Amino acid sequence: MMIPTPWHQHVSPEGPFSDVYEPAEDTFLLLDGLEGDAEALKGARVDICLEVGCGSGVVSAFLASIFGPTPLYLCTDINPVAGLCTVETANRNKVDLQPIITNLTSRKREPLSTQIFQVLKMAVLANCLAYQGRGAIGTVSL
Ligand SMILES: C[S@@+](CC[C@H](N)C(=O)[O-])C[C@H]1O[C@@H](n2cnc3c(N)ncnc32)[C@H](O)[C@@H]1O
Repeated sequence: MMIPTPWHQHVSPEGPFSDVYEPAEDTFLLLDGLEGDAEALKGARVDICLEVGCGSGVVSAFLASIFGPTPLYLCTDINPVAGLCTVETANRNKVDLQPIITNLTSRKREPLSTQIFQVLKMAVLANCLAYQGRGAIGTVSL
């Protein structure tokens, strides 16, 4: 299955998103892996996709082309411009991504696993809020 790489020409060393991580080898390696598993992933019931450190949002846009519009796509980054860039990536690729500006490591007194758990709890809460509008409560598989 050939899944096109999401449009990301707005991310470049020049222009408004010059401070955002430009999709690079690691990004494309991840996209290749997701593409290889796309058929299996499509069979899974997914309510939330959470990308920590989304940069341009290209990976989440790619996931949205696999899973479609049903899941909630949460895209976190410490860089506020990455949030703006992710909105632009979403618009350009006609998908719905939700940027969240947050620092994953700011709560230094708690172990990372606790921090990740807190992010996941927030994601579940956001999912529930999103689904309440449709008259149902969402669930998440971890
Ligand atoms: C290597 S880039 C990957 C970007 C994107 N996932 C991709 O594959 O193109 C890592 C991203 O993590 C973000 N980041 C770094 N430290 C972070 C932190 N403490 N909390 C949240 N995001 C962070 C950076 O701003 C950057 O956008």
